[in-house]
Amino acid sequence: MCGIVGYTGGRQAYPILIKGLKRLEYRGYDSAGVALINDSSELLVYKTKGKVKDLENVVEGKDTGGCTGIAHTRWATHGEPSDINAHPHVSENCNLAVIHNGIIENYLSLKKELMNLGYHFKSETDTEVLIQLIQYMMDSHGISLEEAVPLALRNVIGAYAMVVIDRTRPGSMIAARKGSPLLIGVGEDEYFVASDASPIIEYTDKVVYLDEEQIAFITCGEPLRIIDLKEVKQTPVVCKLELSLSEIEKGNYPHFMMKEIFEQPRTLKASMQGRLNTELGTVKLSGIIDNRDRLLNAKRFIICACGTSWHAGLIGKYIIEEFTRIPVEVEYSSEFRYRKPVITPDDVVIAISQSGETADTLAALQLAGEAGAFLFGICNVVGSSIARATNTGCYTHIGPEIGVASTKAFTAQVTTLTLMALSLAEELGTMTEERRHAIVNELQLIPDKISKILEHDPEIAELAKTFTYARNFLYLGRGYNYPIALEGALKLKEISYIHAEGYPAAEMKHGPIALIDEEMPVVVIAPKSGNYDKIVSNVQEVKARKGKIISIVTEGDEDVRRLSDHYFEIPDTEDCLSPLLSVIPLQLLAYHIAIAKGRDVDQPRNLAKSVTVE
Ligand code: G6P
Repeated sequence: MCGIVGYTGGRQAYPILIKGLKRLEYRGYDSAGVALINDSSELLVYKTKGKVKDLENVVEGKDTGGCTGIAHTRWATHGEPSDINAHPHVSENCNLAVIHNGIIENYLSLKKELMNLGYHFKSETDTEVLIQLIQYMMDSHGISLEEAVPLALRNVIGAYAMVVIDRTRPGSMIAARKGSPLLIGVGEDEYFVASDASPIIEYTDKVVYLDEEQIAFITCGEPLRIIDLKEVKQTPVVCKLELSLSEIEKGNYPHFMMKEIFEQPRTLKASMQGRLNTELGTVKLSGIIDNRDRLLNAKRFIICACGTSWHAGLIGKYIIEEFTRIPVEVEYSSEFRYRKPVITPDDVVIAISQSGETADTLAALQLAGEAGAFLFGICNVVGSSIARATNTGCYTHIGPEIGVASTKAFTAQVTTLTLMALSLAEELGTMTEERRHAIVNELQLIPDKISKILEHDPEIAELAKTFTYARNFLYLGRGYNYPIALEGALKLKEISYIHAEGYPAAEMKHGPIALIDEEMPVVVIAPKSGNYDKIVSNVQEVKARKGKIISIVTEGDEDVRRLSDHYFEIPDTEDCLSPLLSVIPLQLLAYHIAIAKGRDVDQPRNLAKSVTVE
């Protein structure tokens, strides 16, 4: 949540910052702002409610000079989206400006103390407290900004990624992180700071990932200096970025979501690359090989995740239990961390997270780690906080996912969980060789089968127009496709704002059936599988109540198709792999309904891609 970008060097900062904000806008987009130190050492601050393009309109024709600056795109936590609550926030003496991602939990008590000391606050944000506190430390102790920042941060409870500039020190920035990601791009006599690598990729491939509780002193023309909160000197570790510009641009697609849906044949191959041996019917995952004993002796797996990653976890439960016979529990990270869960050293906790930064999942891991569980991460973003907080894991290797509604990350997470289950099952001897071979072979075919489904996109787009009237949708599935009912409903509601619920098909009788009438679209995910006859009966029940049935069926299906008002075919596959296919038409359906309703699919209201607050 909230995107942060900063620059100091020989170039004009403003264009770099605006371009950077546009790349980070997926993180939050209710307001945006920029602060620059111009050549006369004045602090120029422009900010507004709305998107980055609104900020550009506000700034048009104004002074944007200066080679040092910071910029921010916000996802509101404290205080509604407004011009005043937008970042950067400025200190009482108007020398300092700060941008911040995270939450200062003790901001109310700090604010009260600072107000008693004569500091004035303009906004309702927690962030403004941070900058006033830093100025207070400077004034009251007669110290420099460099000395004041660690002192102030030691008085702060909560999470932050923040960057401060001082108009009296052009050419410098101070950045700090605790609980929210931040990295520093190292160029030739110039530095960049950003929430992720996308704003800096075209300028440098050298980055330093700030670690928890680290503070960086960034001055152009000088080496980077890093200390921890206790002011102990740290050695910056420069890493090489493996990211290309084309991965973070839309190319010929109208939206990132569309691009990412269509990338899935390729990204699935990337998730499997080098890991499958089709001749032997085996899977090699280094995260498992290196920690073989710990994983094979697990008494239980606990999967912690949020949102779409949680849905992938649910499919993971079905697969891991079927293949390995080890019990699996799937937890919402936010619930797990605050109830009193039973965790033992025999447990393996699997955290699933595209961003690798989700605050609740990170906290769930910390709790499990303290209880002695072994921690395994399935993340997409390399070097992310969750990837670093786990003992081992597997990256999904699909490149950046930018559309807020997760698509390619979901299929990659399900694929990775399948690989994990296959690899464990081989070692445990819980699956016949024949079955393992069959699944490994079938996995190889999935990308082409997805391509085949994607060819039907125009039909789905056409059908979507029929359903823009709907105020509610019901999604039903059984077995491996029950989580797909949840995921299909989530996709639709988050980008079209149509209320949608996913249900296990048989549970429909216990409540949702009351909602069904001739107005209600019911999406039924009914590929040929062990549960097929059961779901045919459920479809009959919907039909009897005149619900509008849209079904996802296996090619050549007769029974469900006959009962349906509309249907989409998917190629035949193994039951456990069918979610990888059945989710594709649902992603497209949600996308096209949202487009037909004129929604902003890449940046739906109130949502953010990377949820770094709890
Ligand atoms: C947000 C995103 C979702 C994502 C969820 C979990 O809600 O909008 O797309 O599924 O967070 O994120 P993670 O990065 O942990 O997978």
